[in-house]
Amino acid sequence: MANTLAIVILFASLGAVAAQFKSAAPAAAPSYYTSSQPAAAPSYYTSSQPAAAPRDSYGSSAPVQSPDGSAPSYTAPAASPPSPATPPSPPPPSPTPPPSGGPKLRVGFYRRSCPQAEEIVRRAVWNALSQNPGIGAGLIRLHFHDCFVQGCDASVLIDPTAANPQPEKLSPPNFPSLRGFEVIDAAKEAIEKVCPGKVSCADIIAFASRDASQILSRGRINFRMPAGRLDGRVSLSSEALAFLPPPFFNLSQLIVNFRAKNMDVDDLVVLSGAHTIGLSHCSSFTDRLPPNPSDMNPRFATLLQRQCPVSPNFTNDPTVVQDIVTPDRLDTRYYSNLLRHNVLFKSDAALLTSRRTTRKVLENVFIPKRWERKFAKAMVKMAAIEIKTAANGGEIRNMCRVVNN
Ligand code: HEM
Ligand SMILES: *[C@@H]1O[C@H](CO)[C@@H](O)[C@H](O)[C@H]1NC(C)=O
Ligand SMILES: *[C@@H]1O[C@H](CO)[C@@H](O)[C@H](O)[C@H]1NC(C)=O
Repeated sequence: MANTLAIVILFASLGAVAAQFKSAAPAAAPSYYTSSQPAAAPSYYTSSQPAAAPRDSYGSSAPVQSPDGSAPSYTAPAASPPSPATPPSPPPPSPTPPPSGGPKLRVGFYRRSCPQAEEIVRRAVWNALSQNPGIGAGLIRLHFHDCFVQGCDASVLIDPTAANPQPEKLSPPNFPSLRGFEVIDAAKEAIEKVCPGKVSCADIIAFASRDASQILSRGRINFRMPAGRLDGRVSLSSEALAFLPPPFFNLSQLIVNFRAKNMDVDDLVVLSGAHTIGLSHCSSFTDRLPPNPSDMNPRFATLLQRQCPVSPNFTNDPTVVQDIVTPDRLDTRYYSNLLRHNVLFKSDAALLTSRRTTRKVLENVFIPKRWERKFAKAMVKMAAIEIKTAANGGEIRNMCRVVNN
């Protein structure tokens, strides 16, 4: 049976990797982890604003060679539309509903109040991704960054005002890298035309991340997203910094960070698989490039060194693709890259620093369809974090970038 075979391969590989991870840890931690303020101050380490950042380095990374000499499908994600020629059909029944102590989210929440809502979001996502699939990565990350700060309440969308000059979106984990805001604006605008005041921005983000997952996985990840969230009125840069995990976290730090949001180790391993799509700025991983010690594959490191300045700063911080093999496919390639030490962040490499997480990584690589199923489930679970009610300040925003009144 295919399953038996997969499991045999799984445990054979587990032995090999287990032997490896004992010696994988760098002898000395890079200086970033100990000093609070690094010399070159990449984006995560400073909360000051850039003077004037020319932002659109997206998609401009140069074509490069594969480190193992294979698949030269290595170029930056071009503006090629995802394969199907028409918008995908509505998804099948969802996995198990999220465990939730708070208000209940429901599949089909807008069936009466705004039956077109999900279809409008799907079209907006489709339009954006057919121009640039990278926006799909942005939308999936947007959902994560929304949910981990003040719960899934669209607080990440709030623009700065005189009264609140430092909202979440200007915090180092979000600015300038977070993208996809225009897709949410477009969907909201179209929805307001047909059913004003009914659909929350938080639900639009959740639907959009689901749709992006479906499109970028070529339909393999296909699930229903419960809805009924309200939008929050609080958005603080300091909270984004406090709750979003930085790329230099080790495994124990990541586990604590996820647990604070009711997400477990399995969720951590499964959702990290989202790093199979999209981009990263050089500043997020130069702490792992030579001469800094890391377990990164030397050929991969060399490749990255060719694309990145030694000390990236706000005026010079190029982007690279996270998955060097299939950069705009939501697939299990992240985990096979990880086993070859071809991943960017310490937080990625950290998944191989315990037996338990290593086993999960191997399961995701070798058991067919397992990761896709788990990813759908974990997205729904994440989408239920700290849902707001009218009683604790929730509202349906008129415009996603500003609180009402
Ligand atoms: C486990 C802890 C995590 C850490 C430390 C982390 C860190 C990062 C960093 C540093 C970047 C690159 C940002 C840049 O420099 O441009 C990134 C990109 C990304 N992350 Fe994560 N991340 C984590 C978990 C997640 C989760 C749970 C998801 C979603 C389910 C996710 C989805 C993404 C996506 C899709 C991108 C690419 C975004 C784009 O191309 O615009 N990440 N992440
Ligand atoms: C992770 O980092 C924290 C803080 O620096 C440290 O206390 C802990 O021992 C580290 N854990 C591992 C597994 O390296
Ligand atoms: C940023 O780095 C580049 C070289 O990598 C350097 O020429 C430039 O002066 C730096 N800019 C700032 C503001 O430090």
